[in-house]
Amino acid sequence: MKGITVDLGPQSYPIYVESNSLKLIGKLAKDHKLGRKVAIITDVNVAKYYREDVESCLQDEEFQVLGFIFPAGEQTKSLKMADYLYEKLIEANFDRNSVIISLGGGVIGDLAGFVAATFMRGITFVQIPTTLLAQTDSSVGGKVGINHRLAKNLVGAFHQPKFVLIDPQVLKTLPQREIWSGLAEIVKYALISDPEFFDFLEDTLGELVLLKNMDDVEMVIEHCCSIKANVVNQDEKESGLRRILNLGHTFGHAFETLTDYAVLRHGEAVALGMRGIAWLCKENQLLDEDEYNRIDNLLQRLRLPETVPDFNPKDVLKKIYHDKKVIDGVLNLVLLEGIGKPVIRNDIQEDTILSTLEFLRKQILVKNLSSRRLKP
Ligand SMILES: NC(=O)c1ccc[n+]([C@@H]2O[C@H](COP(=O)([O-])OP(=O)(O)OC[C@H]3O[C@@H](n4cnc5c(N)ncnc54)[C@H](O)[C@@H]3O)[C@@H](O)[C@H]2O)c1
Repeated sequence: MKGITVDLGPQSYPIYVESNSLKLIGKLAKDHKLGRKVAIITDVNVAKYYREDVESCLQDEEFQVLGFIFPAGEQTKSLKMADYLYEKLIEANFDRNSVIISLGGGVIGDLAGFVAATFMRGITFVQIPTTLLAQTDSSVGGKVGINHRLAKNLVGAFHQPKFVLIDPQVLKTLPQREIWSGLAEIVKYALISDPEFFDFLEDTLGELVLLKNMDDVEMVIEHCCSIKANVVNQDEKESGLRRILNLGHTFGHAFETLTDYAVLRHGEAVALGMRGIAWLCKENQLLDEDEYNRIDNLLQRLRLPETVPDFNPKDVLKKIYHDKKVIDGVLNLVLLEGIGKPVIRNDIQEDTILSTLEFLRKQILVKNLSSRRLKP
């Protein structure tokens, strides 16, 4: 099976992207010489559709499978759930040769990966991402982690998978809101690396969200994985270049944390964050008016929930300074000098961030008002 390679010397691994490839998991596990004991970690929604198939494919190849089904949602990415898994793996005599497979979106991938990174100082891990966001972003690059009640993704590790298996067909059971959320990360890739891809998204966003053309969907997933692999190959541990993948995330994480991860999907929060960054860049003459309008128009096409809670910009600012991108008290922010031209800056002052948050707040209030007016 052909794959995109994440090229990290002895830790290199393939990302397989192919329609209807879920049923190949048993064979791939065998080809990759995985240990016999396998824990499959998934959530209730994914389990409903795919757990049995994945389990039986592995059992057909004589793997011993232990299944775990967690509640869906960001609250599952917690130390409590990780602790539960440690306990069960110890009880089942999992050893250094055992394997953890994540079958799910970014939440399950991050939790399963975190447990794989820490159990017995690290065991083999395989990602089978089932959301658009996980297939284009979170399953690649080895960042795994859990949330702390005070900040998102603050406890984690770098732990690369043995391989990533992506079957775009599983997106057909994904709710449309989740597809929009994944499209936000896809727009991010275009903004940080690729003006032509941005043009393509402007033309096809409406079709992509409906999964009208699965060849296009597969191509987009492959393209995003290649962009991410290329960045990770150059900077695995995020000491420089990899930070560009955080475009919009500093604001986005703050919105998610302030709303207890319960109101905005990850991609929705990132889309809002990217709108803020684009505006900040225009106001500071990094982006010209035309490019700003194109970016803002595309970002506005990514749906947000009908009502987004009002927020106090000062509270968001406080959360922003909890973010991992703050180093020695200095905030590193990914900005844009054009479509495909990211730049990392550490000289953005608090009052500039506050006025950006004021801008976003106004946008949200106007949007909330107009969706209320549209109601019969
Ligand atoms: N590690 C990284 O590099 C990285 C990068 C980006 C985001 N993330 C993390 O990813 C998380 C968000 O991931 P997500 O957007 O995939 O959310 P998610 O994992 O919560 O999945 C979204 C919803 O879709 C359901 N679902 C998943 N696959 C399905 C399918 N095929 N059919 C039907 N339902 C399905 C899930 O049960 C859930 O309800 C956040 O915690 C974010 O911090 C991590």
